[in-house]
Amino acid sequence: MNVSDAIKSRMTVRQFLDKPVPLETLREILEISKRAPSGGNLQPWTVHVVTGEALKSLIRDVEDKLKRGVNEEPEYNVYPPDLIEPYRTRRRIVGQQLYDLIGVPRSDTPGKLKQLARNFRFFDAPVGLFFVLHRQMEIGQYADVGMFMENIMLLAREYGLDTCPQEAWARWPQTLKSHLSLSDDEILFCGMALGYRDEEAVINELVSERESFENFVTLHGF
Ligand SMILES: Cc1cc2nc3c(=O)[nH]c(=O)nc-3n(C[C@H](O)[C@H](O)[C@H](O)COP(=O)(O)O)c2cc1C
Repeated sequence: MNVSDAIKSRMTVRQFLDKPVPLETLREILEISKRAPSGGNLQPWTVHVVTGEALKSLIRDVEDKLKRGVNEEPEYNVYPPDLIEPYRTRRRIVGQQLYDLIGVPRSDTPGKLKQLARNFRFFDAPVGLFFVLHRQMEIGQYADVGMFMENIMLLAREYGLDTCPQEAWARWPQTLKSHLSLSDDEILFCGMALGYRDEEAVINELVSERESFENFVTLHGF
């Protein structure tokens, strides 16, 4: 698979098969992905790879907290509180497309929450990844971790795997601190589900939109 094919075939998968991913495959993906660039070669990422009983225990814990109406205070704003246009509309459109696809009506708030909660089962993926930084880090280092994550998502395609990056996990900082034994100096940035795509699942048919070249590129000096 060449890079273009990996980029074009990567999509956010929200239903995975119950099929384990060998540790050797995960090791190879992470070993290659660590070649991601980072400002000053800080390599500001650490990654926790969770599967088996550890994954089940985390899922059970969050499920139980959701049932009891327990919430945690996120440690950072995933989105700006008052998202401006055109970003607000882009976010609304992709959400609407997703709910239309799976037949959840606009007014069905419990249905939407149920789908959101699927994040906390990793959409049935056998592996969950968590990306963690030192709290000292600044915006640039978060971008570095994003590049590391993109390497993983693209390489996953080469191994016949798919992913869902999951900022939704930022809603559970204390729970993850406990399950992953994070120190006070560490902050959870993002989760990621990884596994084999369920080709039959309607939810995986979503093809998100992108702006046209003219709408995001400014040419100078051509
Ligand atoms: C950092 C990051 C966090 C994301 N968090 C979530 C998430 O918590 N749950 C989810 O279903 N999708 C999540 N997504 C997926 C985006 O919704 C998706 O990338 C976007 O709609 C574009 O679709 P595509 O990835 O299929 O091209 C996240 C994506 C990124 C890059």
